[in-house]
Amino acid sequence: MKTTILSFVLLFLAGPALAQAPVGNAEAAKGKISMCEGCHGIPDYRTAYPHVYHVPLIMGQQPVYIANALHEYKSGARSHPSMRAIAESLSDQDIADLAAYFSQDHK
Ligand code: HEC
Repeated sequence: MKTTILSFVLLFLAGPALAQAPVGNAEAAKGKISMCEGCHGIPDYRTAYPHVYHVPLIMGQQPVYIANALHEYKSGARSHPSMRAIAESLSDQDIADLAAYFSQDHK
């Protein structure tokens, strides 16, 4: 249900430009998040406050923001070495799924 709402929010925000982009599936992302958790905190684990990790908090951000950031690392428009290496290994579908997953409120 939440995923459906998020998908609509994503389409609403992104508009026609992203109409062809893969639709994120938060459930599908669950097999992919292990490579993010070590740095970005552990979902559903309350002690994972952003200041404990010296990385940005990505949970709860807009899916479009997360997806854009990952595409920017992948393309090199953003140049953080570790995020770039990770983003390069992600497909467009992976990015959409991860954006859907991390944009959920994990409180
Ligand atoms: C090795 C540690 C590490 C791992 C693993 C990692 N990240 Fe990151 N991530 C960072 C750091 C550090 C930054 C900040 C980089 C910068 O300053 O541009 C960042 C930035 C980001 C941003 C941009 C946040 C913002 O507010 O601009 C997103 C989105 C993101 N990561 C998603 C992910 C996802 C999704 C994964 C798993 C596929 C992942 N990261 C795995 C360390 C990591």
